[in-house]
Amino acid sequence: GPGAHPTGHPASFASELSPEENAKRLAAYAAVDEHVKDYHKVLGIGSGSTVPYVVERLCQEPHCNANSDRWYVPTGFQSKELIVKAGLNLGDVDQFPNIDVTIDGADEVDDDLNAIKGGGACQLREKVLAEAATNFILVADSRKDSKVLGTNWKQGVPIEVAPFAWAKVFQNLQKMGCEKPVLRMGKMKAGPVVTDNGNFVIDAVFTESYMRDPSELLHRIKMLTGVLEVGIFAGMALAAYFGYPDGTVAVRW
Ligand code: 5RP
Repeated sequence: GPGAHPTGHPASFASELSPEENAKRLAAYAAVDEHVKDYHKVLGIGSGSTVPYVVERLCQEPHCNANSDRWYVPTGFQSKELIVKAGLNLGDVDQFPNIDVTIDGADEVDDDLNAIKGGGACQLREKVLAEAATNFILVADSRKDSKVLGTNWKQGVPIEVAPFAWAKVFQNLQKMGCEKPVLRMGKMKAGPVVTDNGNFVIDAVFTESYMRDPSELLHRIKMLTGVLEVGIFAGMALAAYFGYPDGTVAVRW
C-alpha cells in the first residue's frame, strides 16, 4: 500500500528523488532483485536510510500481503514499523533463528566486505540477524564505500554496552589504544542514547593500524567485560551494493 513508500509518493514518482536518495533506492532494488527468491520464506529487514527502499521493492512482489507464507524479521524499531505499515507478516528471531536473506544498511564497507554498523545504534540485533541469515547483503550509497574502515566513517566503532558497566568499558577502551571514546548522547544531550535493548553505546575511534585488521579489533573489544556487541561486521556479508548518484550500482562480493 501507499504507506510502504518512504517518501509518501507512489513509485512512479521515483524520478523526483534527489540523486543521493535515488542511489540508495537503486542499490536496494538491485539487492532485492538479485538475492530474494520466491521460495524464500523468512527475510531479515535491517536499519538505516536505504532500508525503506528494500521494503518498497519487496512490496512490489506478489508475496507482499498478509496471506503470504513469507515472514519478515526486523532489526529494530524502525524496521518493525516499516514491516507493520506495509502490512507484512512480522516475525521474531525466536520463531525464526534461520533466515534466508537479511538485507541491511551500513556506515562503511571495506574492500573485503568488512563493515562498520551501528550508526543507528542497532548493531546488536543487526548482528544477530546477519548471523542467522544464509545470505547477508549490504545496501548503501557510494559514500559508504572505502578501502579501509574508518576512512569515511569518522565517528568510531559503535559498541553496545551494559549501562552499569559503561565507565569501566570506557576506561578499558582507552587502555586498549582508543584515545577518546565517546558515550553517545541523545539529541538533547540530556542523557545517553538508549538502544532498543535498553543499553548504552560508546563510539570508539581507533587509528588506521587497528582498523586494518577489523577482525582482530572486533575480538579484542568484544572480550571487554560489559560489552554486548561491537559494530564491526567482519567477514559476514556475501555481497554489498553501492548506489551512485549517476544512477549506476556497483556490486562487491
Ligand atoms: C544502524 C546501522 C545502519 O544500517 C547504518 O547506520 C546506516 O544507516 P544510514 O543509511 O541511515 O546512514 O547500522 O545501526
